[in-house]
Amino acid sequence: MQYTTKKIRKMFLDFFKENNHKIIESSSLIPQKNSNLLFTNAGMNQFQNIFLGKEKYQFQKVATVQKCLRTGGKHNDLEQVGYSQYHHTFFEMLGNFSFGDYFKKEAILYAWKLLTDRNWFNLPKEKILVTVYQDDNESYNIWKNLIGLSVENIILIGNTPNNPYVSDNFWQMGETGPCGPCTEIFFKKSNDIFKISHLKDKKKYIEIWNIVFIQFNRINQNKIIPLPIFSVDTGMGLERIASILQNVNSNYEIDIFKELKKSILKINNLKKIKHTKSLNVISDHIRASVFIIQENILPDNEHRGYVLRRIIRRALRHGEKLGIKNPFFYKIVPDVIKCIKIFGEKIRFQQNNIKNILKKEELQFTKTLQTGLKLLKSEIKKIKNHQLDGKTVFYLYDTIGFPIDLTQDICKEYQINININELKNEINKKKRQSKQNKNKIKNLPNVIQNTYTSTFKGYNHNKITCIVKQIFVNQQAVNKILPEEKGIIILDRSPFYGESGGQIGDSGIIYNSKSLFHVQNTQNYATTIIHIGQIKIGSLEINDLVTAHIDEKKRKLIQNNHSATHLLQHALNKILKKNIIQKGSYISEKYLRFDFSYNQEISIKEIFCIEKLINKNIQKNINICDDHLNFEEAKNQGYIFFQNKTYNSIVRTLKIGNISKELCKGTHAHNTGNIGLFKIIYEKSISRGIRRIEAVTGKKALKHIYNQYKKNININKILKSNHESIIPKIKKLIINYKNLEQSNKQLNKNIIAIQTKELINKIIQIKKINFLNSEIKIKDRKLLKNMIDQLKNKIHTGIIILFYKKISKNIFMVGVTNNLTNIIQSNKIIEIIKKYANGSGGGKAEIAECITENINNLDQLINYIKKWIELKI
Ligand code: SER
Repeated sequence: MQYTTKKIRKMFLDFFKENNHKIIESSSLIPQKNSNLLFTNAGMNQFQNIFLGKEKYQFQKVATVQKCLRTGGKHNDLEQVGYSQYHHTFFEMLGNFSFGDYFKKEAILYAWKLLTDRNWFNLPKEKILVTVYQDDNESYNIWKNLIGLSVENIILIGNTPNNPYVSDNFWQMGETGPCGPCTEIFFKKSNDIFKISHLKDKKKYIEIWNIVFIQFNRINQNKIIPLPIFSVDTGMGLERIASILQNVNSNYEIDIFKELKKSILKINNLKKIKHTKSLNVISDHIRASVFIIQENILPDNEHRGYVLRRIIRRALRHGEKLGIKNPFFYKIVPDVIKCIKIFGEKIRFQQNNIKNILKKEELQFTKTLQTGLKLLKSEIKKIKNHQLDGKTVFYLYDTIGFPIDLTQDICKEYQINININELKNEINKKKRQSKQNKNKIKNLPNVIQNTYTSTFKGYNHNKITCIVKQIFVNQQAVNKILPEEKGIIILDRSPFYGESGGQIGDSGIIYNSKSLFHVQNTQNYATTIIHIGQIKIGSLEINDLVTAHIDEKKRKLIQNNHSATHLLQHALNKILKKNIIQKGSYISEKYLRFDFSYNQEISIKEIFCIEKLINKNIQKNINICDDHLNFEEAKNQGYIFFQNKTYNSIVRTLKIGNISKELCKGTHAHNTGNIGLFKIIYEKSISRGIRRIEAVTGKKALKHIYNQYKKNININKILKSNHESIIPKIKKLIINYKNLEQSNKQLNKNIIAIQTKELINKIIQIKKINFLNSEIKIKDRKLLKNMIDQLKNKIHTGIIILFYKKISKNIFMVGVTNNLTNIIQSNKIIEIIKKYANGSGGGKAEIAECITENINNLDQLINYIKKWIELKI
C-alpha cells in the first residue's frame, strides 16, 4: 500500500471518525487570546480552556490535524532544522482528544490499533517500544497486560533529579497550563540491544506518538494542581509517521518534501548540490514562512514578526550557501501552497500577497547578508582558539544589522563558540548608553536616588495642599530655597504628572502666602515626583505647607492628545488591518507623536480613513474610564500592554468605550468629545519597519487646517491660479522650467564653443609650451571647468588660466594638460595666485581653483606665473 502523506492524514481522521470522534479543523497558528504562547505548538492548544475546566465543549471526543510551529518557548526546534532529520519549525500534528470521556486504556488501545492493525498502518508490532512515566502504573499495566508488550519494550522514565514533574514523560504546554504524565510510542530502526541513550538517537529509535494524560494545571515552576476532569491529548507528527510508512530515513525524504525540494532546485537551476542540509532548511522554512504570513504576521523586529524574520533570514543564508545569487525564496510559495490544500482555499488567494512580502524582505536583507557574511567569514579565518569574540558579533549585529542568531548558526557550522559573556557585556553597554541618552534628568543630584516616595494625586486633582519634603539646589540637598534660586522641590503628594509613558511632565506653581515657585517641568525618579523650577517670590523651606497647582490649560491639552493617541492606535489597527505594535510616543500640549511597527507605505486615502474614524469616535463623545486591576486580570480582560515591559502586580487600566483598552499611567480626557478635532500633520518611515505619525487636536488642528488653507490661497495668488487648476499649473511650470534648463544648457554649449575659439587666438608660447590666460564672461564654475577641459583637448600640451570677476572677488581656475603635470601642476599655480591675492582654494595637478580678493595689478601676477613656468621648464 502506498502511504502518501495525504492518505495518512485521511486514514488518521477516518480511524477516529469510525471511533465516534468529531473531526475539528485546525485552529490558527496564532493562539487564542490570553495564551502564554507565541505560536500554536500542539494540537491541544485550542482546547486549553476545556482541559482546564474553564469552558465546556459540545463534543467530548475529537480529532484534528493541527498546524503547529515550534520556534520558541518550551518547544523550540528552529536550531535543530538542518541538523536533525526529524525536526521542523512548521509541521502538522495528528491528534485525538478526550475531554473527561475515555482515559488511559482507550487512548492506548486506539493508538495501538491504528499503528499496527493490518487495515490501518500495519507497522510490525515487534518494532514498537514505549516509555511510561515512572509513577504511572496504570499505563504500564495496560501496555504489559492488555496490549501484551514485553517488559523490555516498556521503559519507565523518571523525573530529572531534584525537579518534580520535569521529565520527558511529563508533558507540559508551556511554563504554565495543562500538563500530565505521558506515554510515548517509539519505532525501532535498529536491531541493537536497547540502551536508554538510544531513545535520543534518531537513527535507532524515533518517537512517533505522544499520549498525554492531562490531569494537572501548572501554576508556576513548583506548583501543579489537579484538574476537575481527566483528559487525553495525543500528538503524532505527520511528517514523522510518513517517514516510517514511506520507509525513508528522514522526514525530508517523504513525498511532500521531495516535491518541494525538487521545485527549489528547478527554480534556481541547480542540478547537483553540496549542502543537502541547506535544501532541507529552505524547504522547512518556506513552509513556516507561508503559514505565518497567512496569519497576517509581517516580518518585524519583535514578537511574532521577529520569529518570521529569523526564519526567512536563516533560509536566505542557506540559499547563499547553495550559491543562489538572486532572490529565490518567494518563488517557492506556489509549490508550498500546492501541497497544503487541507488548510483551506483562503491561502491560495493570499499567494501573491505572501510572495510580495517575502520578496520585499529578501531584497532588503540580501545586502546585509552579503556584507555580514564577508566580514564574519574573514573573522572566522583569523580565529585560533575556536572562539569568536563578542565584540565582532555585536558589531555585526549593531552596525551591519546581521542577526546574532544567524552568526550563532554559522559559528555552529564551523564548530566555533561565541564568547557569550563578552557579547552580553557589549549588549548591556549599549543598553546603558541608550538608557542614559533617554534619561532626561541625568544631571539630577545622585542624592535624589532612593529617596522619598511621593503620591501622585493628579488623576482627580489639579490643586492640592501638601508639604515640602526635600529641596535640592545646585546638586545639593538643602533646607531652604532662596529668592530667585533654581532647584528641585519634592512634596509628600503632588498633582503634577512626572514625564512617563510618552506624556510630558506638568508645569505650574507651588506657593503659599509668602512664596511662589514656578514649576517648569516635572519628572519621575524612582518613586519620587520631582518638580524642577525657580523661586519667583520669597523662599521655601522643608516642612512648609504649600499649595501645588498645575497649569490646568496645558494639562487639558496634553490629556486630549493622550486620549487621541489611544484612538489613533485603535484606528491604525482597524484601517491598516494589522496588529499595530507601539514603538514609542511623545505627548505634549502642542502635538502627539506615535511610532509603530508597519512595513508598508500608508496611502493618502488610508490617512484620511484613519482621521475620519478618529473624528467619528470623537463625535460619539465616548466615556473614558480608568480602573486599577491585578495585572493578570487586566491581561485576561484583553488590555494592551508592552511585551517587554515589567508591570507592577496592580496596574492602571484605561478604557475608551469598547474601542480601546490599554494599560496606561497617563492622564486622559473624560470623554472623547473633549479632543474636539484630530488632524494628522506628518507621516513617514523613521527606520526599517517603523513609521511615525504626528498629529494635532482641538484648536491646534483647526489652526493647522487654516494654515494649510492660507498657504493654498497664497500659492494660488502667486501662481495666478485657483484650487482646481493649481496642480496642472504647477506641472506645466515644471515642464517649462525643464525646457528652459535644456535650452539654457544648449546656449551655454554654444557660448563655450564660441569663446573657446576666441581664446585659442590668445594662446602664447612659453619656451614652446602653449600658455593661455584670460578673463571670461561666463560666471559659472561648472562652465568654466567645461571650457578648460575643451581647451585642453584642443591644445594638447599647455597651461590655461581663466578667471571671472564676481562683485569684489576673482574666481580663478587653472588647467594643465596631463602630459605636463610631471613638471607643472595646476595646484602649484593656484598656490602662487592665492599668495599674491589673499585667496583660498586648491585642487589637483590637472585642475585647481581658488577665490581671491580683487586684483588691481593682474599683469604683474601673470608675469610672476610666467616666470615660474619658465624656470620649471
Ligand atoms: N501535546 C502533546 C505533544 O505535543 C501531545 O499532543 O507532544
